[in-house]
This record gives sequence, structure tokens and C-alpha cells, in this order.
Amino acid sequence: MNDLFSLKQSVAIVTGGNGGIGKGIARGFASMGADVAIVARNSPKTASAVTEIREEFGVRALGLLFDVTDEKAVQQMTEEVLRELGRIDILVNNAGMNIRKMPQDYEASEWDQVMAGNLRSAFLCSKWVYPAMKTAGGGKIINIGSMTSYFGGAKLGPYSASKGGIVQMTRSLACAWAEDNIQVNAILPGWIDTELTRQARKDIEGLHEKVIARTPRGRWGEPQELGGAAIFLASAASDFVTGIALPVDGGFSSNIL
Ligand SMILES: NC(=O)c1ccc[n+]([C@@H]2O[C@H](COP(=O)([O-])OP(=O)(O)OC[C@H]3O[C@@H](n4cnc5c(N)ncnc54)[C@H](OP(=O)(O)O)[C@@H]3O)[C@@H](O)[C@H]2O)c1
Repeated sequence: MNDLFSLKQSVAIVTGGNGGIGKGIARGFASMGADVAIVARNSPKTASAVTEIREEFGVRALGLLFDVTDEKAVQQMTEEVLRELGRIDILVNNAGMNIRKMPQDYEASEWDQVMAGNLRSAFLCSKWVYPAMKTAGGGKIINIGSMTSYFGGAKLGPYSASKGGIVQMTRSLACAWAEDNIQVNAILPGWIDTELTRQARKDIEGLHEKVIARTPRGRWGEPQELGGAAIFLASAASDFVTGIALPVDGGFSSNIL
């Protein structure tokens, strides 16, 4: 039964895995025996996450500096993972960003930037890992959505569009690749304490307290708390689960007030 959740002999790519939620998930995978490739752009931050994971869990860890919005870079990234780690069993599309503005204030280029950072990147990485997963006889893709996959917000136009898109794309990829034994699912984090939300808490007065009041668990989530759901969706335990969007939100999306 324990083997159901084992990730030994597996190789996982985690985009944006050098900090925040991505690092929480990469650490969770490593704790279950997976080798991990962390893809991000900041060199020292990536090197430090790779060293931390290697030393703490004794797995192979690889840091790769690529912009996942660039298709050529994504192609090179998958080739490098295959060359260095030999296979790709799991992909977590976690890299993401936001620009907060009222709808009327966005430049078209800013809309494109958010959509590319959150949605195009997840599509491109999925497209480029697909051949390796198909050849290997299966795989697991996990897309990171958000509570804004369900809810909107005045300054969340492109972000919520991209995260709503993550859920719909997840369903379509799940249907397309079911026959290849590739399960595609989404995780929808609630409010998690990371660099992204530390900035939001500076920008939005009262956000910290509002989140605590609305979240039945009565607190913000920690990045490592996404690890359990990610391990489930990356392991044999979820072999008949595909196309779902799993909230990990302390009850936020169940609470009307
Ligand atoms: N924190 C929350 O409450 C929350 C809630 C719901 C959903 N999410 C989602 O969870 C994911 C992780 O967010 P987080 O809060 O952990 O934020 P974070 O700490 O800012 O992490 C984002 C990561 O993505 C990487 N990244 C961004 N754009 C990239 C690109 N073009 N190419 C490669 N790497 C890129 C960044 O690394 P580099 O700067 O080194 O490239 C960084 O490691 C995002 O998709 C976010 O939308 C977060």
C-alpha cells in the first residue's frame, strides 16, 4: 500500500521550483524518492534550492535556467532533462506571475505577459514533455491554478483569465492523453505565504486579515502544504484520476462569507 505513493525511480520537472509553492512541491517529491529538475530564471535562487534538495533528501537534483514562456527554451529544457536524468515521469506547471491593475489600465503587452507566464508556459511544457511520457508508457502532469480559477477580482483580469484557462486546458489535455496513460490534473492553492503574496499583502490593505477571516482553517497556507496533493497526483495512487481541479485552500472555496 505504501508503494502507491512512492516516487522512487521517477523524474519530476517543477517549473518555478526554486521558491514558494514550487519548492514546497519539489521537496515533497524528493521526500518520496523522486529525482527533480527545477526550472526557473534566477540563478543563485535555483542553485540554492537544488543544493538544499540534494543534501536533505539524497536524490538527484538539477537546476535549469530557462524562460518557460519561450518555446525554443522549453524544447531545450526537456532535452536537457532527458539527457541528464534519463526520463520524464512528472511535470508540474507551477511557474507563474501577476500584474495587478484595473482592467482599463493594462497595456496589451501586460495582458500578453500574464497569459504567457501562467497559461502559454503550461501548454508549452506539456506539449514538449508529451513525447517522452508517451514513449515511456505514461506520465503525470499537474497544473497549478488558483482560487481565481473560480473567483474574479477587480485587479485580476488577465490573472484570473489565465487561471480559469488552466482548469479548462487541464480537462482537454486529460481527455487527449488518457489513451497514452498520462493523467493531467490541476491543484488550486488557496492563499499561501510566498514572495508573490507577500507583495500582494503590501499592495492590498487588510489582505492578511481578510484571508484569515474567510479561510475556515483560520490561517494562511505554507508552501510545503501543497506537497501532499502533488504527491498523490504524481503517484500511482491517482492512476484513475484525471481532469480534476483539487483545491488545497483550508476551506476558502467552501465558505460563502
Ligand atoms: N501564493 C499563493 O497564494 C498562490 C495561490 C494560488 C496560486 N498560486 C500560483 O502558484 C504558483 C507559484 O506561485 P508562488 O506563490 O510560489 O510564487 P513565487 O514565489 O513568485 O514563485 C513563482 C516562480 O515561478 C518562476 N517563474 C516565473 N515566471 C517564470 C518563467 N517565465 N520561466 C521560468 N520560471 C518562471 C519564478 O522563478 P524565477 O523568478 O527564478 O524565474 C518563481 O520561482 C504560480 O503559478 C501562482 O500563480 C499561488
